[in-house]
Amino acid sequence: VDLGRYNSFGFAARAENFVRVESQAQLREAVALARANGWPVLVLGGGSNLVLREQIPGLVIQMAIGGRGAEPVGNDEVRVTLGAGEVWHQSLEWMLEQGYYGLENLALIPGTVGAAPMQNIGAYGVELEQAFESLQALDTETGEVCGFDREACRFGYRDSYFKSGAPGRYIILEVCLRLSQRPRPVLRYQALVDELQVRGLDNPQPVDVFDVVCAIRRSKLPDPAEVGNAGSFFKNPLVSQAHYQQLLQRYPALVAFPAGEGCKLAAGWLIDQCGFKGETRGAVGVYKRQALVLVNLGDGTAAELMCLAQEIVVSVEARFGVTLEMEPRLYPA
Ligand code: EPU
Repeated sequence: VDLGRYNSFGFAARAENFVRVESQAQLREAVALARANGWPVLVLGGGSNLVLREQIPGLVIQMAIGGRGAEPVGNDEVRVTLGAGEVWHQSLEWMLEQGYYGLENLALIPGTVGAAPMQNIGAYGVELEQAFESLQALDTETGEVCGFDREACRFGYRDSYFKSGAPGRYIILEVCLRLSQRPRPVLRYQALVDELQVRGLDNPQPVDVFDVVCAIRRSKLPDPAEVGNAGSFFKNPLVSQAHYQQLLQRYPALVAFPAGEGCKLAAGWLIDQCGFKGETRGAVGVYKRQALVLVNLGDGTAAELMCLAQEIVVSVEARFGVTLEMEPRLYPA
């Protein structure tokens, strides 16, 4: 099977074996088959945080377990349960229609519900963990279904236990969120606040936040249906206060945000300063409106993209003494 349309970079990739699963029973069967054959397993959600090489050994499982439900839990709150294969943005639209609020800022993030906790998706001042209650996952080592509460997921910045603690071991089946039936917009990301103001929305409702986030994203980020990409290609690097102050002296225009003890630097700005914005290398390049986004211009490959990524890492390191870390997953590593 060619995985070109199953990864948002649109890289041509041949899967040795491929199966789409719509139920837990089908998933168990697929995992057992892989075990019996000694195949490595790649679980695909929307394929929007993935850099696929040309040959994919073993088994690729496309997660398509659906389902949406909601139950009131008092305090004007509601517990929403979503199947891992549900599309994130569509689920969010549904929640908004039902009047379940809290995650509007995560509008238009590509990918599935099951992939969301994997890297604790975040944007415009909100991270998934803020509304996360629990999830169910299949332990591929024991065959048991385990529950994980928020603490057990060990969420971090674009990180979780499933991504870095026990990579590949658990397959997320469903996710429970705790949302509010009372609007409580989160307005702490400057670009969001500014755009709401420009539109004269002094008392923004959740749907306004949702709409404005969609508009900002559309203006900065390429639509994967048109230009292959995986959103931010690097994480925004965390540096100490001392390092930040030192950089600020040399680069007064440095863009950064306070984060814990230190500072998060805008990686897009660093890359932009190194002159990469809009640059191309063969069939891959750096997006012209956001330097943090790498793009596939047509028939690019993972190898070409990793080459460009390495060039960027070296350049940013030489200039700023900061090492950028890749955000999407390279497979096979
Ligand atoms: N900037 C530049 N040049 C660029 C790009 C950015 O100077 O080419 C500067 C701008 O001054 C801008 C600042 O960097 O104000 C930050 O840029 P932006 O608001 O676009 O956000 P980001 O830090 O680049 C992060 C997330 C995005 C998320 C946005 C909004 C990471 C790695 N990326 O990007 O997440 O949508 O904030 O919250 O944390 C993703 O993870 O795939 C993703 C798209």
